[in-house]
Amino acid sequence: MRYSSLLRHDQTLFRDPDVFCPTYLPDHLHHRDAQVRELAFLIRPVLRGGSPRNAILRGPPGTGKTTTVRRVFAEVAAETRRVLPAYVNCRQNRTPVAVYRYIFEELFGYAPPATGRHLDDIREGIVARLQDADASLLVCLDDANYLVAAETYNLILYQLLRLYEGWDVRSAGVFAVTSDLGMNLYAEADGPVRSVFHPTEVNFWPYTKTEIRGILADRVRQGLYPGVMSAPILDRIVGIAADEQDIRVGIDLIRAAVMRAETDGRRQVGHGDVTAASRTVIAPVLQARAAGLSAGERTLLCRIAERSREGADMASGAVFEEVQDYHSIGRTTYHERLKRLAEAGIVDLVPGPGRGREREVRLRYGPDEVTAVCTGPEEARIARQPGPARNS
Ligand SMILES: Nc1ncnc2c1ncn2[C@@H]1O[C@H](COP(=O)(O)OP(=O)(O)OP(=O)(O)O)[C@@H](O)[C@H]1O
Ligand SMILES: [Mg+2]
Repeated sequence: MRYSSLLRHDQTLFRDPDVFCPTYLPDHLHHRDAQVRELAFLIRPVLRGGSPRNAILRGPPGTGKTTTVRRVFAEVAAETRRVLPAYVNCRQNRTPVAVYRYIFEELFGYAPPATGRHLDDIREGIVARLQDADASLLVCLDDANYLVAAETYNLILYQLLRLYEGWDVRSAGVFAVTSDLGMNLYAEADGPVRSVFHPTEVNFWPYTKTEIRGILADRVRQGLYPGVMSAPILDRIVGIAADEQDIRVGIDLIRAAVMRAETDGRRQVGHGDVTAASRTVIAPVLQARAAGLSAGERTLLCRIAERSREGADMASGAVFEEVQDYHSIGRTTYHERLKRLAEAGIVDLVPGPGRGREREVRLRYGPDEVTAVCTGPEEARIARQPGPARNS
């Protein structure tokens, strides 16, 4: 750190640092009018004394699902008292009691007492609140795929959607959200749930590069002082976020690069700040994407990274042939593993010209970073060395 930064520690480049927080709710929601309209349409029956309808919200990470629901819930709460919206983060709340506690807190503005309150007590509190308000309950189960993994999805849905059966309340609506595109939240519902769960599917498509630019430029305008981030620097960050297909990477990169410039006592972000920031921002993203891979998928990924580093032919057939030298697997298993790597957002399978169904396997990340996450750091070092040691 330079002495100048110590002297100028009171000078900040952030006009509003909260704008770059993960929980920040933007004033303006870009490019999601269709989804907002669709959700509003599903909620509208409450204005005529009916109940909200159900939905499944699907889209890859960072496509604005959570932001859209929170925005819609905030506007609905301001507009009508006929529905009480409750947003539940299921990544952190996977048991029925945790989910009901969260709903309670959303409805009352404070948590139920930590001890002495069982599920039934909490539910009674929620029901009393709904009866007092003569309102319907609308629950967003965000990242509901975590409930499926915890095997609580059906129980929670069943209880919420049939709340009206045991209690004198209107039927509730549920918006179930998932970023796991391999999971069909409707198919995961069992018979008793399906008889009351008829969700409309609302899709959130990945943002285009132009859309990413618009969203990030808006954040920069709101969160930074003028002149801190030049257009070429922002453009570079937009390019990285678009390559990663993850707008969060863009937001995190802006914050990290600006903090670096600020710590250094400079008034403007430079390319060096972006380069340094991208190392710290991208590694955890890749780590998260690789977290769910099986051992076989990791082995394949390692081989792909190595070929890519060597500049070898990346046609899927050529990769398959070479993989056989290390690890004998059938063609079907190979293609399944390849598909999983693409679904995890680590490789792209690009159709090649004149190759029929052949695909080019293209890594989205640098081969060294990929090797580091699919093996430990020590194995990554060995994998980088030429020679027979790496075959063992
Ligand atoms: N349309 C948008 N306009 C403005 N900001 C957006 C928009 N979409 C996403 N963002 C911002 O991008 C980040 C990620 O959005 P969000 O959390 O809503 O994505 P998500 O689809 O819920 O992702 P995940 O599936 O990983 O939970 C947030 O910081 C959010 O403010
Ligand atoms: Mg989300």
